[in-house]
Amino acid sequence: MNSNPSSSIHTDLDPQNLPFHVAIIMDGNGRWAKKRLFNRIKGHEKGSETVRAIVRASREIGIRILTLYAFSTENWQRPQIEISALMTLLKKFLISEQKEMLDNNIRLNTIGQTERLPEDVRKELQKSMMLTRKNEGLILNLALSYGGRAEIVKAVKEIAIKAIDGRIDPDSITPDLISKHLYTAEMPDPDLLIRTSGEMRISNFLLWQLAYSEICITDTLWPDFGKDEFMRILKNYQQRERRFGKVGP
Ligand code: IPE
Ligand code: IPE
Ligand code: MG
Repeated sequence: MNSNPSSSIHTDLDPQNLPFHVAIIMDGNGRWAKKRLFNRIKGHEKGSETVRAIVRASREIGIRILTLYAFSTENWQRPQIEISALMTLLKKFLISEQKEMLDNNIRLNTIGQTERLPEDVRKELQKSMMLTRKNEGLILNLALSYGGRAEIVKAVKEIAIKAIDGRIDPDSITPDLISKHLYTAEMPDPDLLIRTSGEMRISNFLLWQLAYSEICITDTLWPDFGKDEFMRILKNYQQRERRFGKVGP
């Protein structure tokens, strides 16, 4: 019998072919709650437990970057009561995970218009990012008030200003230069995108960065998602042939 539960995680997966960067659209909290006649907020609470489990599993498996779509620019249009509950949950998550992140060598990073977040949440984010800045086991990259189009607009503006100032020659604008002006400037693009709850859309997530990511959509609602299914998806990823437009071997 295997006495070390975490070692069994590795038995099935090829450690040489792990996705370096996994991005997840965590969807279905509302439907999970609705099915049980609960308030939507209850679904978000349950969903935050899944976040904890998947962060832990990613760390154990050896994934290097985990980008989680937690709140989109469009999500600001939800009822104020739901937005407030999500912000409170986020703050609670940050406070309760601080020790876990420090103990497990996890670095927190955020992408998105974080200046739009409430002051107390921003303070907690700053604190966690500061405390974990030297960690290099896993980057937990939270997409908060994130929108792919807004991100591209921001990059275009920055590049335009540099061009007007004469700091950039328009001929030197390449895909690489654009990548360097995105929130994810320091990161390779996601190898794998997972979306829960069965929706076949990207919902304004990482529009530029997903150009060649492998996509996996599962019907499971985010609060029901767990390590076992995550492992099955990773196994499926390892069976795929990534061609990047070239011909296969
Ligand atoms: C995902 O769950 C969480 C956020 C978008 C913040 P939803 O709240 O979108 O759940 P559904 O899609 O209504 O089921
Ligand atoms: C995408 O889910 C955003 C997050 C998971 C944070 P949504 O529930 O907001 O997306 P749509 O409305 O179904 O496209
Ligand atoms: Mg949704």
